[in-house]
Amino acid sequence: LQRTFSILKPDATRRNLTGAVNAVIEKAGLRIVAQKRIQMTKGQAETFYAVHSARPFFDELVEFMMSAPVVVQVLEGENAIATYREVMGATNPANAAEGTIRKLFAESVGENTVHGSDAPETAAIEIAQFFSGNEIVG
Ligand code: GTP
Ligand code: MG
Repeated sequence: LQRTFSILKPDATRRNLTGAVNAVIEKAGLRIVAQKRIQMTKGQAETFYAVHSARPFFDELVEFMMSAPVVVQVLEGENAIATYREVMGATNPANAAEGTIRKLFAESVGENTVHGSDAPETAAIEIAQFFSGNEIVG
């Protein structure tokens, strides 16, 4: 089994959609093996999205991630990284497939409801940024 890192972003918590998003995650066969609701600090958001620091939307992205609580999660399952990316749908909800989380819930390319790791290396780094080993119970 593989693990991936997930964030239910501020637009999800603001609209009280965490349960609805989790239902889609679980229906896809992914198990939520760690989960906590946190208020991201500026430092956490900047570190998390450091790969995008040169992009024109970086400041907006960091501000958005701090604009309300987020729910950080570790998901476990067969091919969890690819499975979750598929369930999330395209970054821009206008391009997301029917039934995906972003098609169902996302409001814009910036406020797109969820994050999911894109590779095993980034999954490991992202999980370690937010969880200690004893917080993950498979
Ligand atoms: P993540 O799982 O959040 O990493 O999304 P992604 O992998 O589908 O997209 P990507 O890594 O390319 O971009 C990271 C995040 O930056 C996106 O999820 C959006 O929240 C945000 N983002 C990407 N493009 C834009 C944009 O053009 N404008 C704004 N405001 N935000 C953007
Ligand atoms: Mg990404």
